[in-house]
Amino acid sequence: MSLRHCIKVDDFSKSEIFELFEIASEVKKKFRNKENFKPFKDLSLAMIFAKPSARTRVSFETGFSWMGGHAIYLAPQDIGLGKRETASDLAQLFSRYNDMIMARVFSHNDILDFEKNATVPVINGLTDYNHPCQILTDIFTIWEFKKNNFDHLKIVYIGDGNNIVNSWLRLSSVLPIEFISISPEGFYPDNTTVDLAKYSGISNIKISNSIDDVKNSDVVYTDVWASMGQKDEIDERIKSFSSYQVNSKLVSTAKPDYLFMHCLPAERGREVTNDVIDSKNSVVFEQAENRLHIQNAIMLKISGKI
Ligand code: CP
Ligand code: NVA
Repeated sequence: MSLRHCIKVDDFSKSEIFELFEIASEVKKKFRNKENFKPFKDLSLAMIFAKPSARTRVSFETGFSWMGGHAIYLAPQDIGLGKRETASDLAQLFSRYNDMIMARVFSHNDILDFEKNATVPVINGLTDYNHPCQILTDIFTIWEFKKNNFDHLKIVYIGDGNNIVNSWLRLSSVLPIEFISISPEGFYPDNTTVDLAKYSGISNIKISNSIDDVKNSDVVYTDVWASMGQKDEIDERIKSFSSYQVNSKLVSTAKPDYLFMHCLPAERGREVTNDVIDSKNSVVFEQAENRLHIQNAIMLKISGKI
């Protein structure tokens, strides 16, 4: 089997994404039943973090350990990526110690350097550009909730045109969806990625600045207005984003059974109000739980264990 990585959503074909859903459903049952399942016995995973994390760290560490392996957490100060050592040297080093590498970095070029230089599978745990594990989780969660109507859903993202949106756009270049990204002017997603999504001809894509596009949506998704690395811009950004808050007035235009989604962590009262994130339509914790199951599926698939 040739070496496989998970650097972007479209590293998987449409049929492989559905295969990941099936594997994730299986391992989810096994995990919940606390079954004995040890495909990664005697193997290890290096987890490199240049940025903070709760979900990514705990879900990867829990998943890999449950499947019999040993996961090693490396904090930003342990690695000093780009200062103490290059991504390329680290990739070669950990390929000798470990059987898989997961990395969360600032520059997308760093994850590409890991991919280029590692001789074991590399998983992207978020970069400034994208977050594939998150969006594969999100679409799996939507599939779980809306299986019977999956092909005809209107998925609306509202907020900053960031790594989350870029990943939705990349997903739309392999899986047919109707996807609308709504942001204030100046905060649109990456142009090249919008073009990739549009010209693939697979999905219906709209890039908008109008909150009216939330109307009749099946999914309303938001994320923080300032991502990691941009937190000192928040005061300035609030001025541009204030009318893009997901609140009860905004979601009253969505379908009654719409799903509210957020990759978390949420800045409650800013991009989303408590009455929305705590409402019966909100699936944010199902979504967060599914990080564990889809990532387990990804690790099993790219390592050839399944
Ligand atoms: N959604 C997500 O990746 O969360 P963390 O930043 O806590 O890992
Ligand atoms: N856009 C956010 C996602 C966090 C999971 C960030 O990059 O900080």
